[in-house]
Amino acid sequence: MKVLTVGGGGREHAAVEALYRSGAEIYAVMKNANPGIIKRSKEHLLCDEKDVAKVCSFAKEKGVELAYIGPEAPLEVGIVDALEAEGIKCAAPTKAAARIETSKSFMRELVDKYNISGNLGFAHFDNAADAEEYLKGIDYEIVVKPIGLTGGKGVKVQGEHLNSFEETMDYVNEIFDQNIGGAGVILEERAIGEEFTQMVFVDGKNIVPLPLVQDHKRAYEGDVGPNTGGMGSYTDSNHLLPFVGEDDRKAAIEILQSIVDAMAQEGCPYHGTMYGQFMLTVRGPKIIEINARFGDPEAMNVLPILESSFTDICWKMATGTLTDDVEFSKDATVCKYVVPKGYGVKSESGHEIAVDEEAIADCGAVVYYANVDVKDGKLVTGTSRSVGVIGRAPTLEEAEQNCEKALEHVKCDAIFVRHDIGTRALVQRRVDHMNELRSA
Ligand code: AMP
Ligand code: GLY
Repeated sequence: MKVLTVGGGGREHAAVEALYRSGAEIYAVMKNANPGIIKRSKEHLLCDEKDVAKVCSFAKEKGVELAYIGPEAPLEVGIVDALEAEGIKCAAPTKAAARIETSKSFMRELVDKYNISGNLGFAHFDNAADAEEYLKGIDYEIVVKPIGLTGGKGVKVQGEHLNSFEETMDYVNEIFDQNIGGAGVILEERAIGEEFTQMVFVDGKNIVPLPLVQDHKRAYEGDVGPNTGGMGSYTDSNHLLPFVGEDDRKAAIEILQSIVDAMAQEGCPYHGTMYGQFMLTVRGPKIIEINARFGDPEAMNVLPILESSFTDICWKMATGTLTDDVEFSKDATVCKYVVPKGYGVKSESGHEIAVDEEAIADCGAVVYYANVDVKDGKLVTGTSRSVGVIGRAPTLEEAEQNCEKALEHVKCDAIFVRHDIGTRALVQRRVDHMNELRSA
């Protein structure tokens, strides 16, 4: 089957690899020359991923039958609506369905309207004065978010990033003054607990859950520093997480199924991978955000261990024929992102980066290229995450060790990595934190 892929990051490289493995002929569109994607593509086009007209004419010219869209930005501008109008099936949501991610107020209001569990207190504002009035009237900690898309970097949490009323208002004002996210501000009740990611395949109606993943959004070791797109993530061999039990997972899956049902009722049925970010609290899982796509890095954990045909799953998501015979291997995975120096604050880019794929494979690991580009025949870093290295093994401990061994085969003089991700010490801290909350 001829498949169009859109996006040039680590998540898309992992998806392209899974499509290729299951027999697809790949036609790739991306803004940067991702060498991993190019290697697997029959043809590729370098262009703005939001240039709907260009992407559509490339897809039509190549006669693709199915499309996979990685990032949220092209979804927001209606790339799926345009491709579907050309008769191309899409394993991704329409512009209306993608609002579940592109508008944080749409998501919270939908969850409220359909009485779905897991919602947090929230209020949204189109001006700073109203937000200030509201803030004066509450006595609990909140989180400040731009309503629109910010590439995972716009969220600030009281008690972590914002330590006074003044700091909170400064950030609210900054969002309005600089029009960050382009759609106003949402203030949410702060949930306390441990975060996990539950993703599901969706065909408009039916869902199939993927293994649980834990991402690490903070830039620096020990979970401190600014929020990022995600510094790394892990999955365990039983597809659960050491601090998330079967019941909590079931509750998260029920929330996602209810959202899928609600969207069908609203006349915007959801097709594609749906991403649920949850905070496990003492009162069960609470919704942090819902995304209209695979998580990045989370895709790099689950796609290498997917044993069923990803091409087949994408076709079924697009055509409303999903079945639950989706198999994942029982390996644990640990992904650590190599990111440019300064990432999260102000990245240094344009540094040469060397990746020894063979040596990485010999370590029981795999590498996915992300925001790198080829300039004058050399592979160089961009301003976003550079390459993801994923260790894989029957236990979490071995997977983490494989990842660390493999990281030695990525060389660049202006990068950093969160080495604590997937380590026994950090995982144990999460388990202890949940136990403390439960016993308090
Ligand atoms: P988001 O981009 O919405 O995933 O937010 C980035 C990070 O901010 C999340 O991964 C959480 O660590 C934190 N966060 C977002 N919303 C909340 C909330 N309501 N309560 C506590 N932490 C939050
Ligand atoms: N890993 C977080 C995200 O993809 O939004």
